[in-house]
Amino acid sequence: MLTELQNIFTPTRVSNSAEDLKKYGKDWTTYFDINASFIVFPESAEEVQKLVQLARLKKIALIPSGGRTGLSGGACALNGEIIVSFERMNKVLEFNPIEQTVRVQCGMITEELQEYAKSKGLLYPVDFAARGSSHIGGNVATNAGGIKVVRYGLTRDWVVGLKVVTGTGAILNLNQSLVKNATGYDLRHLFIGSEGTLGFVTEVTLRLAAPQTPAKVLFLGSDSLAQVMQTYSLFKKHTTLIAFEMLSDKALKYVEQATGMSSPLSSPAKFYIVSEIECPSEKHEQQIMEALEKALEAGHIVDGTVSQNEAQTKIFWRFREDITESLARYTPYKNDISVRVSKVPALIEEMDPIFAKNYPTWDVIWFGHIGDGNLHISILRPADMTKEEFVKECRKVDALIFQAIKNQQGSISAEHGVGLTKKPFLSFTRSAEEIALMRGVKMVFDPDHIINPGKLID
Ligand code: LAC
Ligand code: ZN
Repeated sequence: MLTELQNIFTPTRVSNSAEDLKKYGKDWTTYFDINASFIVFPESAEEVQKLVQLARLKKIALIPSGGRTGLSGGACALNGEIIVSFERMNKVLEFNPIEQTVRVQCGMITEELQEYAKSKGLLYPVDFAARGSSHIGGNVATNAGGIKVVRYGLTRDWVVGLKVVTGTGAILNLNQSLVKNATGYDLRHLFIGSEGTLGFVTEVTLRLAAPQTPAKVLFLGSDSLAQVMQTYSLFKKHTTLIAFEMLSDKALKYVEQATGMSSPLSSPAKFYIVSEIECPSEKHEQQIMEALEKALEAGHIVDGTVSQNEAQTKIFWRFREDITESLARYTPYKNDISVRVSKVPALIEEMDPIFAKNYPTWDVIWFGHIGDGNLHISILRPADMTKEEFVKECRKVDALIFQAIKNQQGSISAEHGVGLTKKPFLSFTRSAEEIALMRGVKMVFDPDHIINPGKLID
């Protein structure tokens, strides 16, 4: 296998060193035993095609690997698979100033794409804390959401074209940057959110947005999640929201501990909101202040402050964006769930007793993109518990949480994907008929089950 891989990639772009296998064989999850056999570093779709042909012949599985910031094990190797790292395919291929689109290789880092758009006087608006290492190909594979979905939507909304290599070894150019294309099934959208189970995305063409207008960032305190949702509704009506994020008092405490920062508010609250709002003129500023007053008067918030400068804006955002890193050393068990925005309070009401009964003494940290109905729940591992025991306990509670989500017609994964971690629970969100159709689709694109097998569906 080594020689065959070296023939395709040259010896310098194949590795099976223990150090590389450990590094490239996993994502940000911490509960899997990693076992990869090789890492290859393609530079073109044609090389990927050759690899797929070899893999079909030898019946060996391949795993697409981007920035490895995933939280569902979607890029983890457990069974001696070959990891296909797109680290070297990180270039801008074409900028189209008329259409304001950019064609990039799949390994381009999100933040570099954002910087590139900026250098052209434009904006790539999909944004999240892992921007510094996540790849655009991974964003496509998971239909990445993040912190500005309220205003700009998901990755799906910006993709106008894809080049992919399917599990049959075909190279497809999907949608070819067309705005209008009424020729049947849009296979581009099938690949977006497919978690690398149908083939490899090698090139992505994206729309860019007009640069963002000046904005204000608010840091608010609220007594309950129901009041947080009231605040959301009020601001949505009276202002142009870019982001509306929530963190619990415990999340704030862990960020304070990890970073040495302290809350921008003088009085404590149970929940905090970080909201970015467009503010291109004084009139808009006045609207924001009026909404703030209304929220205070109605008791939806108990305290609040508005960023006065760039430095403060950054600090307000850090309280939300630094949560994942601040919790990392407690190897948290994570859930990433969603319901329709209007159903958030009902879901919380249903979940509260489940948490109180099953996690009475454990630290449970709530945060998330509450303006999208998306909650991240991190359960911290007690120091005296092994990883195995901890995961086993959490999985028991998952079944209860997911039933509550099913009752509210929500999703067991809002943005991190199903991967390995949520696979046993997919039926809480997708019907048996849907899952059967998904299996059928997988069979069409990957008849030999060599592309990221065992992820999302069996
Ligand atoms: C966040 C990641 C965990 O929202 O999705 O911080
Ligand atoms: Zn998130």
